[in-house]
Amino acid sequence: MTVTSSVEAARAGFRTAFGREPAGVWSAPGRVNLIGEHTDYNEGFVLPFAIDRRTYVALAAREDRTARVASAGDFDDREIDLGGITAATMSGWSAYPFGTAWGLGRVGADLDRVGGFDAYFTSDVPLGAGLSSSAALECSLAVALDETWRLDLGRDRLVRATNLAENQIVGAPTGILDQSASLLAAPDAVLFLDCRDGTHELVALGLEEEGLTVLVIDTRVTHAHADGGYASRREACERGARTLGVRALRDLEADDLARAQQLLDEETFRRVRHIVTENRRVLETVATLRRRGPRAIGELLLASHASMRDDFEISVPELDRAVESAMAAGAVGARMTGGGFGGSAIALVERAGVDAVTEQVLAAFARAGHEEPEIFAVQPSAGARREQE
Ligand code: GLA
Repeated sequence: MTVTSSVEAARAGFRTAFGREPAGVWSAPGRVNLIGEHTDYNEGFVLPFAIDRRTYVALAAREDRTARVASAGDFDDREIDLGGITAATMSGWSAYPFGTAWGLGRVGADLDRVGGFDAYFTSDVPLGAGLSSSAALECSLAVALDETWRLDLGRDRLVRATNLAENQIVGAPTGILDQSASLLAAPDAVLFLDCRDGTHELVALGLEEEGLTVLVIDTRVTHAHADGGYASRREACERGARTLGVRALRDLEADDLARAQQLLDEETFRRVRHIVTENRRVLETVATLRRRGPRAIGELLLASHASMRDDFEISVPELDRAVESAMAAGAVGARMTGGGFGGSAIALVERAGVDAVTEQVLAAFARAGHEEPEIFAVQPSAGARREQE
């Protein structure tokens, strides 16, 4: 869908759901992470970009303290008193928007002084594909409420608010990668973020100039971060840091690994090694992009995938197949992206080779008896914003 038709769809949906005009439409993108996986909650480095798939929210303030949410997806409409948002009262998709309103209260908004709101969501970020559809939803609402309630919290506090929503109201122990990408990204660039102190800068990606494209290969294997795999990886990292006497795995370098191997059990050691080497790969990717451009990062993407497959053990056969078949078809580099256990891989490919890579990945999936993946190109795009009237 074009941006204009999505904005119109959000307005029309709002009118049908609430019987009045919205005050405005805001949007926020999904993301892919170029490299730097599971490093965020280890206070390390990440390098995502926002994609040209967005969640749109049409919103209007209310005089009372009621918040009502509705969506174009096949989800129930919900309403709640703004004062009554707790993890215990929340369930289903509305935990994301209501949690976001609650999160704003945690980072400086006085929720006793603001009124309620009606919000209607529509989205072209695929759900469950590992492309941060939940962050897109949270961040679209965060910018909408920040403006509507005249909070002026600033993007960094909106990152914290939406992340708190996900951790404490939705109950998913995720880091700040997804919300940071959705709120801070810019066109044609990757966001180089230090998750320890929140400092960030944009690094030119230069795909256009180099004749390259990023393809997303959505395996359609669903993942859910409230499930055990993600949380158990996080626990292993925290255990590793505790045993090694550091605040976070960010504080370890490659030459600490020998000591780590002596002190940790074999599995925890591999989890730790992924984080230590992945942080290094993010820094190398930034340096390589700056010095030599995107064509030179292929090996780093592949090394990252191998580390997630072998050390962190968060890949699945479909993701491995996506990476291997894209490379066999001539991709410059490829890796799974996001939390793992399903979701999507990305492949960096020559623009002229998009059709060949697509066909060969589809063929490889068919041969292996996997469900047909969804394959599409993504553009590094703008972060959350108000849409023009
Ligand atoms: C998910 C989480 C992020 C991050 C990634 C892995 O997307 O939401 O916080 O941990 O997994 O890099």
